[in-house]
Amino acid sequence: MTDMFDAGERLDAEQLAALQLERLRATLEHAYTRVPHYRAAFDKAGVRPEDCRTLADLARFPFTAKADLRDNYPFGMFAVERAEIRRIHASSGTTGRPTVVGYTERDLDVWADVVARSIRAAGGRPGQIVHVAYGYGLFTGGLGAHYGAERLGCTVVPASGGMTARQVQLIQDFRPEVIMVTPSYMLTLLDEFERQGIDPRSTSLKTGIFGAEPWTEQMRAEIEERFAIDAVDIYGLSEVMGPGVAQECVETKDGLHIWEDHFYPEVVDPLTGEVLPDGEQGELVFTSLTKEAMPVIRYRTRDLTRLLPGTARVFRRMEKITGRSDDMVILRGVNLFPTQIEEIVLRTPGVAPHFQLRLTREGRLDALTVRAEARADATGDERTAAAHAIAQAVKDGVGVSVRVEIVDPETLERSVGKIRRIVDERD
Ligand code: DLL
Repeated sequence: MTDMFDAGERLDAEQLAALQLERLRATLEHAYTRVPHYRAAFDKAGVRPEDCRTLADLARFPFTAKADLRDNYPFGMFAVERAEIRRIHASSGTTGRPTVVGYTERDLDVWADVVARSIRAAGGRPGQIVHVAYGYGLFTGGLGAHYGAERLGCTVVPASGGMTARQVQLIQDFRPEVIMVTPSYMLTLLDEFERQGIDPRSTSLKTGIFGAEPWTEQMRAEIEERFAIDAVDIYGLSEVMGPGVAQECVETKDGLHIWEDHFYPEVVDPLTGEVLPDGEQGELVFTSLTKEAMPVIRYRTRDLTRLLPGTARVFRRMEKITGRSDDMVILRGVNLFPTQIEEIVLRTPGVAPHFQLRLTREGRLDALTVRAEARADATGDERTAAAHAIAQAVKDGVGVSVRVEIVDPETLERSVGKIRRIVDERD
């Protein structure tokens, strides 16, 4: 494996730290001189790019939030002339303006390199066929995966999301070794294989590279078992680049190595903003180290995780994401993440790996109903037992009472991309 490492992966810890500092200082300077938002924010905080003498000095610089990107819509955060921008992506956002990001030619080159590195770390090899079922378009998933797979020297099938029956046919006919897709859409594909009477374990697939939404170890076990593949996690966000910011290595499957030669991570206390030591859980914050078009300084991801030392690579790892602070439900004072429910539903006999969380208000209190789908062969008694088991496990594990409804097979909405777990029916 190590003979396939690229130059960044071959650095030792000391070389990596030196490279990071050099790139960080250049990025701070670039942002300060080229982007009015950063100039104003640094001035207000009383810091200059040259105040960053060590990596720890980054903590003196102000955070950047999604709102800053929205306030500078569409191109105000760009640090190069508009004509130098080769590509635009945007994330839809639930309300109002989308968040717009831009890339220079060199940014696209770096992006392809880090995604190629990710696919290789996942077990993909040049010459293999990669089926990309992340959506193509303004979403970074499809095109990001696409150019990375090409860069690695793979044959890419740009399937995009949707038209599930055709996806199954393409996989049967083209015989890809690698699939890149959201884990929830992989489950939709699983149903479709079974509907067509094809054993999902019999496909050509060896490797699944799953991301764009939180998923748990239980989900990994389910997908690996039912498809007979290795399932590894890929992380990224448009504001920082897209997919390929961090990747789990197939040889260890122990969290995601952050490609720290391009993206510098910090974990901070979500309330105070104080930098936390490695190993402590908090909000992930990124500073880009090589981006030209849209450098980001201390971008608050709202994703919750902790930093761990490197294993299969020199780079630090982030633990699989527990959830986003935005997706946290506070129920009678107890914090709850959809991933906690996923762990429970997936280990409960009689239910399929499909569930939804319905939030309602009863009087002055919020109530949560877990709707989980029965497996096709589950009896009435098994369904009742499953409902009790899930309610009890949530009570014991999370510490709060929820209602559980076991619904008929194939009744919950299926994912074609990022799944929406929470249906909020409070007014
Ligand atoms: O989801 C980029 C991507 C595409 C990543 C394909 C991986 C694969 P956005 O649409 O900007 O970009 O959404 C970013 O999605 O802040 C996380 O909350 C969540 N997310 C992305 N990857 C993971 C993951 C793409 N592996 C937001 N685990 C991020 C958990 C993830 N959450």
